[in-house]
Amino acid sequence: MRKMLVIGIGAGNPEYVTIQAVKALNTVDVFFVMDKGGVKGELTRLRRDICDRYVEGADYRIVEVPDPERDRGAPAYQAAVEDWHQKRADLLEQLIDTELADDGCGAILVWGDPSLYDSATRVVDRIVAGGRLQLDYEVIPGITSVQALAARHRIALNGIGQPVHITTGRQLSGGVAEDLDNVVVMLDGGLACQGIDQDSFDIYWGAYLGTEDEILVSGHLSEVVGNIATLRSGARAGKGWMMDTYLLRRRRPQP
Ligand SMILES: C[S@@+](CC[C@H](N)C(=O)[O-])C[C@H]1O[C@@H](n2cnc3c(N)ncnc32)[C@H](O)[C@@H]1O
Repeated sequence: MRKMLVIGIGAGNPEYVTIQAVKALNTVDVFFVMDKGGVKGELTRLRRDICDRYVEGADYRIVEVPDPERDRGAPAYQAAVEDWHQKRADLLEQLIDTELADDGCGAILVWGDPSLYDSATRVVDRIVAGGRLQLDYEVIPGITSVQALAARHRIALNGIGQPVHITTGRQLSGGVAEDLDNVVVMLDGGLACQGIDQDSFDIYWGAYLGTEDEILVSGHLSEVVGNIATLRSGARAGKGWMMDTYLLRRRRPQP
């Protein structure tokens, strides 16, 4: 039976790749890469670097295809994303069928960890559920950008005994519920924390975590957000793309 591995490769530093992932990488015959093109192509290059660095020997192939387009103008966000997942599943199924031997092992390398804002497990699930291919699959965890953020700021994400909420910039623009004290924000194209009650939060911000371009800023949101906005737009202009994550921690009066 064919096997697919969904391998988390960590969010930036090649040394975030775990020993389990290295062992898994070395069993792969074909790596499937859906290239988003443009600046995101840099992430494809980083995946290639990881194969070069960790795979012994060269008896593997990399099959690269352009990622299907997602309809970003569609009014129904959920439906548009589901439609995109189906297109990715159809494409991957066809590639597995034509590029992977009946007893071969294929892999998708996922930035960070597959459990966090990534479609790979859903896409492979769809293929398995479709039943047209006999496929076994396994997920190898990786270090997320959220863990990298916490480590680089030397903080715990939660206050003592408190929960942690992980969300997107899109959701944050609706405000922060009063009972949320620790909010991690990802996928934020426009620094949505500028629109919340800045006096009530501290921020721990990190861009390009784990890479040589990493930038870290922390402090009272109202005092540092202007600096973050300036750094962010400068870095985005220089590199052509931005990838940042941050923790908002509510300031509560000390007992
Ligand atoms: C599609 S999600 C993928 C998350 C990934 N699966 C993970 O485990 O971190 C992309 C978002 O992750 C965050 N991210 C990923 N890598 C990052 C990095 N090296 N530095 C800062 N943020 C990062 C950003 O918020 C970015 O918008």
